[in-house]
Amino acid sequence: MKVEITSIEVSKCYPLRHEMLRRGKPLETCYFDGDNSEGTFHLGAIIDKEIIGIISVYEKDLTQFKNSKGAQFRGIAVASKHQRKGVASKLINCAEKETKKRMNPKYIWLNGRISANKLYLGRGFDLIGDPFEINTIGIHQRFIKMISYDN
Ligand SMILES: CC(C)(COP(=O)(O)OP(=O)(O)OC[C@H]1O[C@@H](n2cnc3c(N)ncnc32)[C@H](O)[C@@H]1OP(=O)(O)O)[C@@H](O)C(=O)NCCC(=O)NCCS
Repeated sequence: MKVEITSIEVSKCYPLRHEMLRRGKPLETCYFDGDNSEGTFHLGAIIDKEIIGIISVYEKDLTQFKNSKGAQFRGIAVASKHQRKGVASKLINCAEKETKKRMNPKYIWLNGRISANKLYLGRGFDLIGDPFEINTIGIHQRFIKMISYDN
């Protein structure tokens, strides 16, 4: 089945965010800071006009890399019946290309659920720091991918 990756409005991310990332919680927990900021963009993986995967990208620096421009990947999810077919990998690869074009950052980072570690390690991200708890969501690890080492 052909998967198309395309830019989508944030409102189209909320159903999958809710189902896969904030199940049982109020819908407002799916509204992330910066969702509507100017530089932010959202990509959807589409099959037969249905959004089956999502990723969002924010202009956001890490405090430990002050004065160095960063981009954050967040809200990555794929509908249950389409998992383990490479959809998240495709979304991450497309988001990385688009991020380089739009934001030209020095690095991309994300906070990933421990259960998804292999996904990010397999896409060239490295672990930084120790695992940490995000309130009511579970244990996460921070990942980073350097894009440029220039100052
Ligand atoms: C995590 C998630 C986005 C992965 O999406 P996906 O489309 O199934 O991922 P891919 O098919 O591209 O997987 C690529 C690789 O990541 C790893 N991986 C993906 N899902 C995994 C899982 N549930 N357990 C272990 N490894 C996993 C595997 O190494 C996989 O390669 P393989 O299938 O050849 O073994 C999806 O399972 C999901 O939406 N989960 C619920 C929400 C969530 O946890 N999101 C991540 C927040 S950080």
